Amino acid sequence: MKTEILRAIEDLESFMETVDDALQLPRESAEFVHAAILATGAKRGLEIGTSYGYSGLWAGAALAENGGTLVTLDNDPRKTEAAAATLRKAGLSGSVELKTGAALDLLATLPGPFDYVLNDADKENCRTYVELIADRLSDRAVVLTDNTVSHADQLADFVTWIRECEDFVSIGLPFENGMEMSVKRGSC
Ligand SMILES: C[S@@+](CC[C@H](N)C(=O)[O-])C[C@H]1O[C@@H](n2cnc3c(N)ncnc32)[C@H](O)[C@@H]1O
Repeated sequence: MKTEILRAIEDLESFMETVDDALQLPRESAEFVHAAILATGAKRGLEIGTSYGYSGLWAGAALAENGGTLVTLDNDPRKTEAAAATLRKAGLSGSVELKTGAALDLLATLPGPFDYVLNDADKENCRTYVELIADRLSDRAVVLTDNTVSHADQLADFVTWIRECEDFVSIGLPFENGMEMSVKRGSC
């Protein structure tokens, strides 16, 4: 990992302690995101829920190393502006595109295909977001949905649905907040 990216990660970890709206991935989950992207060779990444750019730094670093790019979206312009500054400082603005708006609107318009998706915005729409982008997921695309333990009640139906869906192989990962890893197979 490049020094400027590591420095930006550490800065955001400190910043997170000072605000109450930086609900970013725990470090271990973020390290998994980084490793999974490197391992799969994913090139086209999509992040639903940018916040201040913490997961975007980890995913953006791995996607850039794979020669790829990340599109990340959030409906809070204040956060996307802050994330843009962080990603610029980390030297990742050339490979990460930020979009501001409601996920329901933006996901309908984004061109795919995507090899990696982090599903980490509002929990009530997790299933809708996967259904919306399913036609733009590449074969073997990895979709990670955070908070299956910390928001178990809200995500229970989503987890049942995606594990029963023939288009995905899906398993829960034992991270602090819980994370569902769903691998797309074939076309929907
Ligand atoms: C859990 S945070 C994302 C954390 C980020 N993935 C990270 O680890 O650094 C969720 C984000 O989703 C955004 N969000 C919530 N509802 C949304 C919606 N309907 N459309 C777009 N973004 C939304 C919030 O503004 C918030 O920044």
